[in-house]
Amino acid sequence: MKLLVTGGCGFIGSNFTRRMLAAHPDWTIVNLDKLTYAGNPANLSSVVDNPRYRFVKGDIADAAIVDRILSEGEFDAIVNYAAETHVDRSIMDPTAFLRTSVFGTYVLLEAVRKYQIPRFVQISTDEVFGAVMEGESGDHAPFEPRSPYSAAKASGDHLVASYFATYGLPAIITHACNMYGPYHYPEKMFPLFITNLMEGKKVPVYGDGMQVREWMHIDDHARAIELLLEKGIVGESYNIGTGDRVPNLEITKKILALCGKDESSIEYVKDRPGHDRRYAINSAKIRRELGWAPYISLDDGLASTVEWYKANEAWWKPIKSGEFQKYYEAQYVTR
Ligand code: NAD
Ligand code: TYD
Repeated sequence: MKLLVTGGCGFIGSNFTRRMLAAHPDWTIVNLDKLTYAGNPANLSSVVDNPRYRFVKGDIADAAIVDRILSEGEFDAIVNYAAETHVDRSIMDPTAFLRTSVFGTYVLLEAVRKYQIPRFVQISTDEVFGAVMEGESGDHAPFEPRSPYSAAKASGDHLVASYFATYGLPAIITHACNMYGPYHYPEKMFPLFITNLMEGKKVPVYGDGMQVREWMHIDDHARAIELLLEKGIVGESYNIGTGDRVPNLEITKKILALCGKDESSIEYVKDRPGHDRRYAINSAKIRRELGWAPYISLDDGLASTVEWYKANEAWWKPIKSGEFQKYYEAQYVTR
């Protein structure tokens, strides 16, 4: 397979790229990434010399660069990971979220039409379903986004679905739960908390800490996307989740224990505006139809993730002392 991966220098796209190049000796991957603050070429340093990998710095909203890449050879699929992804930043300024997730997705869809790419996989999030106070969101549950991040993602997904309905564009949409693992930009809860504790700082728990997220190790997600590329039905949406739904405070206590700290390291801070109380997705379809299942338990995944951050200070220390510092001060010091 020849793939165009967008946003491949981020947390999830880089994991997918590393794993697929290793698992499939006949796959080649072109990675189009704008290198925003979250895009880090170091995430792909292990494949940079692989002749089956090529990096192109550029924006998915730039039709000329997308056109140039797709005109250079026949692609079997595009996997669109590119997005602005941090809810708190979307509250500070939604502009880039809309530009990438709405206009950028549109540019890619037009390119899929023009070059008749056989498959387009839109990587999206369970956050488009909004807060689910009880029960679970199904694969085609209505969207009720409540943050600029999730509203932008939902808009992109609507465009993808409309291109399937209108033009028969061969698209698949995924809605995955929260993920954790190595190379996660340390503004997100897991890596922020782990690295703060390693630096001797406190961990900022929003509100009462009883918000529930469903958690999946990133390696399990990569396998789901691999299966969808090979066997997914176009026009379908697939939820990808584990059923591991845990309040933030419980996750925090697990992280504290793994880092040898106690609850005095918790700092309760002002809640996120519009904070979704609970996410829960039903992922029976991808299990039933494609035989996918998550293999990594939350406890095992958390332990190995903490070990990774302990062993890879050289990866996260420069990030936390750079652009991140300005963001962190704006986000937490003023709360
Ligand atoms: P990330 O923020 O770590 O990485 C995003 C990547 O996209 C970065 O490399 C960035 O440079 C790139 N990018 C941003 N705008 C771009 C543009 N206009 N053109 C090209 N590249 C651009 O994000 P992530 O956690 O890896 O998330 C990837 C995708 O998965 C997103 O679409 C996100 O909505 C979705 N998702 C994430 C989670 C999660 O828990 N992290 C859960 C479900 C779905
Ligand atoms: P986050 O990692 O930002 O992912 P998302 O908002 O996309 O789910 O946050 C996960 C949960 O942790 C969410 O309920 C917000 C909460 N949280 C905190 O309590 N403190 C923090 O410093 C951060 C970043 C998040």
